[in-house]
Amino acid sequence: MSTPTRTAFAFALAAFLAGAMHTAGAVDGGDPVRGQHLAYTCLGCHAIEGYKNAYPTYSVPKLRGQHAEYIATALRGYRSGDRSHGTMHAHAASLTDQEIADIAAYLGGDAIKPAETPPAGTPPEAAQVCVACHGADGVGVLPEYPTLAGQHVDYLERALEEYKSGARKNPIMAGFVTMLSAEDMKTLAAYYGSQRPSLETVKKRTSRFSAR
Ligand code: HEC
Ligand code: HEC
Repeated sequence: MSTPTRTAFAFALAAFLAGAMHTAGAVDGGDPVRGQHLAYTCLGCHAIEGYKNAYPTYSVPKLRGQHAEYIATALRGYRSGDRSHGTMHAHAASLTDQEIADIAAYLGGDAIKPAETPPAGTPPEAAQVCVACHGADGVGVLPEYPTLAGQHVDYLERALEEYKSGARKNPIMAGFVTMLSAEDMKTLAAYYGSQRPSLETVKKRTSRFSAR
């Protein structure tokens, strides 16, 4: 496909999925207060600034400001094994849909909104198809699309590599990464990772003085 055709296709698919996905929700809206209790063990990795997965080495993704709907989708993916990662599978395996919704509401917090200023830098050419769903500023245009703005660059790059290798399975993304070179993936990860406002590491509220 030529680039304009691919771009048109990406926008058409985005519009189609917008209709399909909004009929899928099944649980009550998440309760962030319940979520905070349930997410206690998650903070050991997700609330530590700059924390890295041991092997292979890459940064643990930032979750604060991420769409709760996407966090819930990711957790259901780890639970079912559609998305493979040993530790995350272990953490998600026993969660119910309601618990997932509660945890997602707490960890995501207020989803970041599209930037009011123009994106930082010029979008690389390879981003032409991505913006239909992830925006030029990296804020997912639907709650089911992950926000990429300010995410760790090494994590974004790894995610793209995994869609390409098939280690991470998602029919939408699998189609879009086939045309990307290793160089494109680096450039796209760097571009989206530098956008503001940015996703953040979840803040750990407890300290040894407040723990009771
Ligand atoms: C031992 C460290 C560790 C713990 C504990 C942990 N995670 Fe993770 N989490 C990771 C790593 C590493 C990844 C990236 C995995 C991958 O590449 O798919 C990840 C990925 C995720 C993602 C996907 C984010 C995205 O942008 O796609 C979500 C959501 C998530 N974790 C939520 C949780 C929740 C909820 C808990 C607790 C129930 C938890 N994690 C516990 C290390 C951890
Ligand atoms: C039609 C909509 C659509 C288009 C176009 C699209 N994406 Fe995605 N993207 C998604 C969805 C949906 C997911 C979540 C998939 C999953 O659950 O693994 C995703 C996931 C991702 C992730 C993983 C984020 C995370 O937190 O783990 C990255 C990185 C990404 N996309 C980058 C891109 C790039 C770069 C392009 C352009 C080459 C692109 N996407 C084009 C819909 C889209």
